[in-house]
Amino acid sequence: MTILVTGGAGYIGSHTLRLLRSQHRDVVVLDSLVRGSEKNLLGATLEVADICISAAVESICRKHNVDSVIHFAAYKSAGESMTQPHLYWRNNVEGTVGLVEGMLAANVKQIVFSSSAAVYGNPDHLPITESASIKPENVYAETKAMMERIISWYGVTHGLRWASLRYFNAAGASSDGALGENWDITTNLIPLVMKAALGASGPIKVLGNDYPTPDGTGVRDYIHVEDLADAHAKAVDYLNDGKPNLTVNLGTGIGTSVLQILAATEKASGKPVPHQFAPRRLGDPAIVYADAKLAQQTLGWTATRSYEEIINSAFTWHKSQS
Ligand SMILES: NC(=O)c1ccc[n+]([C@@H]2O[C@H](COP(=O)([O-])OP(=O)(O)OC[C@H]3O[C@@H](n4cnc5c(N)ncnc54)[C@H](O)[C@@H]3O)[C@@H](O)[C@H]2O)c1
Repeated sequence: MTILVTGGAGYIGSHTLRLLRSQHRDVVVLDSLVRGSEKNLLGATLEVADICISAAVESICRKHNVDSVIHFAAYKSAGESMTQPHLYWRNNVEGTVGLVEGMLAANVKQIVFSSSAAVYGNPDHLPITESASIKPENVYAETKAMMERIISWYGVTHGLRWASLRYFNAAGASSDGALGENWDITTNLIPLVMKAALGASGPIKVLGNDYPTPDGTGVRDYIHVEDLADAHAKAVDYLNDGKPNLTVNLGTGIGTSVLQILAATEKASGKPVPHQFAPRRLGDPAIVYADAKLAQQTLGWTATRSYEEIINSAFTWHKSQS
C-alpha cells in the first residue's frame, strides 16, 4: 500500500518524502510543480497533477494503490493571501475539496493534513494549546482553519479519518545538506536571514524591536523540518493503528527571538548579519510558542533539534547553493 504525498516537491513535503523512503515505505508524489521543484524529489515517483482536479487524484490513487494521503499542497504566504485572496480560496480551500473527493472516489480514507499555528492568530494565552481559540489574522490562516473543518466534516459525512498537524515555524535544512528551503520562493524569516548573511540580498528587515519581549523583537517557535517530517510518519502510523481523529500542535515549546536567530547566524557564518529595524507588521503577535505535550502523548513525538541546529543546517545548505 502506498502513501500519496501532495506537495512533495516543496520544502516540508520533500523532507518528509525522503524520510518515508528511508523507512522503506511506498510513496508517490502528486505535485503541480507550481511552487516546487522536481529536483527536491531525489528520484521519487512524481505524478504532475493539480489537487483541484478530483478525477486526476482518483486515477493516481487507483494507479498506485494508495491507502493514505499526506496533504502538503497549498499556497503559504500570509502577505500574498491578503493581496490575492482568490488564489488562496481556490488553491487551498477548493483544492482540499478536490483532493478529498478524488480520494474518496478511489476509496482512500486516511489523510494527514498540514495545518498551521497561524489558525490561532494573536493568542490569548501561552503556551498555545490545541483548545485555544481559532482567530485567523489573514486569508492564508483562514484557509487553513477552513481546510481543517472541511476535512473534519468529511469525517462526519464519509468516514474520512484524519490528523491535522498545526505546525509552528518550520525551518532548517536536512542534516546532510541534500535539501533545504529555496529563498527565492519563500517569505519565511530564516531563509531571508541566510540570504542577507551570504550577501545575496540587502540587509534583513527586523519588523519591530519594541515588542514586550526580552530583547524587543518577535518570538516564535522554530521547528526543524526533519523533526516535522518524523511527526508525519508517526501520524500515518497513528491512523493506520485505527486511533481517533486528531488535531495536534507540532512545535518545540520554546520561543526564540529574531535577535537570537541573527546571533546564531553570525556564529555560524563568523560575520555580522546586515540588518535594519523596521516598524512592526500589522497583526503580528509578539510571542508565539506551542504547548507540545499532546503530540508527545498521542504520536509519541517530540522535537529533538534546537534553534542553533536549525540555523547551522540552514547556513550550510544555503552556502552550498550560493
Ligand atoms: N513552511 C512553514 O513554515 C509552514 C508552517 C505551517 C504550515 N505549513 C503548510 O505546510 C505545507 C507545506 O509547506 P511548504 O513550506 O513545504 O510549502 P511549499 O510551497 O514549499 O510546497 C508546497 C508544494 O505544493 C505544490 N502545490 C501547490 N498547489 C498545488 C496544487 N493545486 N496541486 C498540486 N500541487 C500543488 C507546490 O508546487 C509545492 O511543491 C503547506 O500546506 C503550508 O501551508 C507550512
